[in-house]
Amino acid sequence: MQHSLKTVTSPSPDWVPGSWRSRTALQQPTYEDADELNGALAQLGELPPLVTSWEILALKKAIAEAQVGERFLLQGGDCAESFADCTSPIISNRLKVLLQMSLVLVHGLKKPVLRVGRFAGQYAKPRSADSETRDGVTLPAFRGDLVNSPEFTPEARRADPRRLIKAHARSAMTMNFVRALIDGGFADLHHPEYWDLAWVDHSPLAGEYKRMVANIGDSLRFMETLGGESISYSRVDFYTSHEALLLHYEEALTRRVPRQDGWFNLSTHFPWIGMRTAALDGAHTEYFRGIRNPIAVKVGPTVQPDDLLRLIDVLNPEEEPGRLTLIHRMGNDKIGTQLQPLLEAVKREGRRVLWVADPMHGNTESTSNGYKTRRFANIAGELDQAFDIHAAVGTRLGGVHLELTGENVTECLGGARGLVEQDLDRAYKSMVDPRLNYEQSLELAMLITRKSAGMV
Ligand code: PEP
Ligand code: CO
Repeated sequence: MQHSLKTVTSPSPDWVPGSWRSRTALQQPTYEDADELNGALAQLGELPPLVTSWEILALKKAIAEAQVGERFLLQGGDCAESFADCTSPIISNRLKVLLQMSLVLVHGLKKPVLRVGRFAGQYAKPRSADSETRDGVTLPAFRGDLVNSPEFTPEARRADPRRLIKAHARSAMTMNFVRALIDGGFADLHHPEYWDLAWVDHSPLAGEYKRMVANIGDSLRFMETLGGESISYSRVDFYTSHEALLLHYEEALTRRVPRQDGWFNLSTHFPWIGMRTAALDGAHTEYFRGIRNPIAVKVGPTVQPDDLLRLIDVLNPEEEPGRLTLIHRMGNDKIGTQLQPLLEAVKREGRRVLWVADPMHGNTESTSNGYKTRRFANIAGELDQAFDIHAAVGTRLGGVHLELTGENVTECLGGARGLVEQDLDRAYKSMVDPRLNYEQSLELAMLITRKSAGMV
């Protein structure tokens, strides 16, 4: 493994990619056979990386620009990717939705949108319990395709190290396809017709979207004036992100590169720490403090201002621009009381962060017919409040983090088509959390632009 290269000194001499192993690591699977795990990790350590350090540093610079209000971050994708969904239509439809949303946002916010997918590595999930019991039988919980398989059998639920290699390959295939599409001009704002999805015409939102597309000439001219040159979207106009949950996997892809100091997580551009693993003294915080990527942390409703400040001290001691994004995910009923003290503390201490709202994860509920769902009204409500609370404190909401898909699923209730509980039976496909479908995603993008327009 490249971990032994000694030519470059790390900025944190007391840190190595494996230092997390001496801390408590929550949400990790139990592998039965250490040799089998170590064999897979050794193999992973030899495989090529998925992203490069200069892409990572370019993203960090773009996030720094978002921190001062020059860009808006759109981060979205599946709750959990699955190996089976590594297909051409699923990848390209997801890209289309994100591109359409970014078009709406560029048009409405009149500033460049930084597009980051929750994909090419979003294969590990935190769970509320380590095991699951059905009809008196207890098996390990499903932790995402990186670890095991969702079927309720002992074989499927066994943590299988071969999946680490398979996830790397699936991530590379996804990345390769996304890069090829973008290199071929798919993401070019001059050609929004490339992103049309078959059923767009039947959507109640089609009219408004088409009017925006018709206006795109104007926005392009606006942006070209803003940038002083013709806008060409080339190579990495799309960055990747995932929850860096399974630390063995992340460690094996943490490398040094020539002519750069320090260590990079080369499995993704922009890893984040989930809410359940963000303890100050936990293994995830220890791992994240040593990598040079831009990083994000999910911030839930129980986080106290002082704890957040201490976490910022550990994760961004040098106040490096672009380094740290805080993704608040409070819930529509809690954001009104929980967010403001955090914003005030960070502002008071003059800490440099990018604030992003995840209006999904605090709004999950179960229906009477047994589905995990989210109400569009709660998602939109949390986002609406987030803008107002930031404005009241004098901080800036610089982006959104969403779970969405380009498929015509029925997982979240409400939206322009008014989905009700009975609709969930029709096309509920998510393995974990309910995602916004195409229409609901676009509607949310439109709400964001209307809200920001009303605030200036
Ligand atoms: C997620 O983003 O899928 C997730 C589990 O979020 P959180 O850590 O905010 O609960
Ligand atoms: Co989720």
